[in-house]
Amino acid sequence: MRIDIVSLFPEFFDAFFSHSIIKRAIEAERLSVGVTNPRDFSHNKHGQVDDTPYGGGAGMLMMAPPIFEAVESVIAQYDSETNSAYSTDEMCDEMSLIGNPSESIRRRVIFMGPTGQPFTQEKARELATYDQIVLICGHYEGVDYRVEEHLVDETISIGDYVLTGGELPAMVVADAVARMIPGVLGAASGAQEDSFYEPLLECPQYTKPPEFRGWVVPDVLRSGHHKNIATWRQKEALKRTRLLRPDLLERPLTKEEIKLLKEI
Ligand code: ADE
Repeated sequence: MRIDIVSLFPEFFDAFFSHSIIKRAIEAERLSVGVTNPRDFSHNKHGQVDDTPYGGGAGMLMMAPPIFEAVESVIAQYDSETNSAYSTDEMCDEMSLIGNPSESIRRRVIFMGPTGQPFTQEKARELATYDQIVLICGHYEGVDYRVEEHLVDETISIGDYVLTGGELPAMVVADAVARMIPGVLGAASGAQEDSFYEPLLECPQYTKPPEFRGWVVPDVLRSGHHKNIATWRQKEALKRTRLLRPDLLERPLTKEEIKLLKEI
């Protein structure tokens, strides 16, 4: 999968892409990433990408043309790489007969903005099924509305607060999506057991030492009894969810969940 970011501050993403799980996903070629600066598509020799709003008002807005062209360039680049991968690979001769692969590319162009739909685990899982997602980061006081109206498929918000730009939200989305790509977390990972998979909050977890400042790890977790451990974990997850996020239990519960909730 490919994640392209369109941002006036590409250097924000340097640390993000070069550490930990994201770095390993890139090295393992499960994920490829790129950051494109709309300033490179400015129509003005000063590299101007913002201007005053029509109708007056404070602040500057990002102009539409550099954003459209930055997005179109990452799309064209992905399409041409996919095409050339097909045409240069002798083994794929047969596939080239079934048409232009770019026509079947699944992609989503997304604007990061506080007016968008709230970002959820379900959305992360959905976005991880696309071949390419393009995340556009706004800045200044906003972005010419024609971007949202005519360029993007959807606007996503990471919460009901306003940040100074879309870079942190784009990292949040890229991170949550990347870890849902098959193989990125590895076979033994807990992506399936995560909070919001079930959806329940995660149960408490502990590691060594078994006792720290008098606080001990629950005996059951050290018992080696797998069935008891599984039941304990599910009960704790339910307990925590009922206490901290009761709204998550307003769904049809499984028989097992109903039984455990009665015991808690
Ligand atoms: N840009 C500024 N604030 C934002 C938010 N809450 N979510 C997504 N993008 C944003």
